[in-house]
Amino acid sequence: MDRKQVVLDMDPGIDDALAMVVALNRFTVIGVSTVAGNAPVEQTFQNAHRILQFTRHSTIPVVAGADRPLFYPLLTAEDIHGFSGMGAYTWDVPDVPHSGELAWNWMARRLTTSSVRCHLVATGPLTNIAMLLWAHPESHEHIGSISCMGGALPGSKMDKAFEFNVYVDPHAADVVFRYGPNVRLIGINVAHRALMPVSQLDRFKQFGRVGQMLFDLLQFYAVHARGEGGDPQAMPLDDALVVAATEAPELFQWEEMPLTVVREGPLRGTVVLAPYAAEREPVQVATSVDAPQFFEWLWASLTE
Ligand code: RIB
Ligand code: CA
Repeated sequence: MDRKQVVLDMDPGIDDALAMVVALNRFTVIGVSTVAGNAPVEQTFQNAHRILQFTRHSTIPVVAGADRPLFYPLLTAEDIHGFSGMGAYTWDVPDVPHSGELAWNWMARRLTTSSVRCHLVATGPLTNIAMLLWAHPESHEHIGSISCMGGALPGSKMDKAFEFNVYVDPHAADVVFRYGPNVRLIGINVAHRALMPVSQLDRFKQFGRVGQMLFDLLQFYAVHARGEGGDPQAMPLDDALVVAATEAPELFQWEEMPLTVVREGPLRGTVVLAPYAAEREPVQVATSVDAPQFFEWLWASLTE
């Protein structure tokens, strides 16, 4: 089967780093755009660059995008990912300057000049994707699908009503759910059904120098993110499931539903069924994942 042509929009972030490595093995990645989220956009930009250099994909362009959400001040997640966004890991890759072109303008240029439709894989706050859809309506017909990690499925039994990516920028998430073509959503409620036991971390070492790098990164994450999914002996891989949803949607059960987001007040970031369904394309929402199959897919992704 031909490899999908993909743009990765990420906020690396340790689980984003794993998702990026898996995506590089599974797709033809034509570019990586970065957004402020787990860390400020300068950090997420340099981290994306470092990961591409380390994995010997230095010809793939990296572009920086939004340095804050559409309306709210930026919230970051250094408690989980460290101040650099990459835990305690140190890279021997020097920082690089930005090209100066904003991510959504770069995406629009690449999408509209591509001979095939591109799939967007978004694993951070959706600010860049919202800006693309808002500022470049001509790009919509060139988008094959938008797979994103965010929110908690309406009605799911979650210990909290919101998830980081959608909480940070609920307005952007609402734009994507409203205007995005072929949107697939992996909510945190489904991501937390495929938790990785911390005891399995050693297995990453079987995959050479890249596996060792992932092991080193995930060690920090195992300490700071363990228990996030309700099991103190396991950690969520969140963003890797978005890559799986794009490449192997059969690993999931899906339901179509029109979605909107609570943007203000104490329930900010809660994903709910859109009251005016007629005005919204339904979003493909993952309702469950075959966790053993997902992990088989994940390890196979690292082997390639
Ligand atoms: O809530 C989990 C999401 O927020 C993941 O994408 C993680 O990287 C953070 O961005
Ligand atoms: Ca992320």
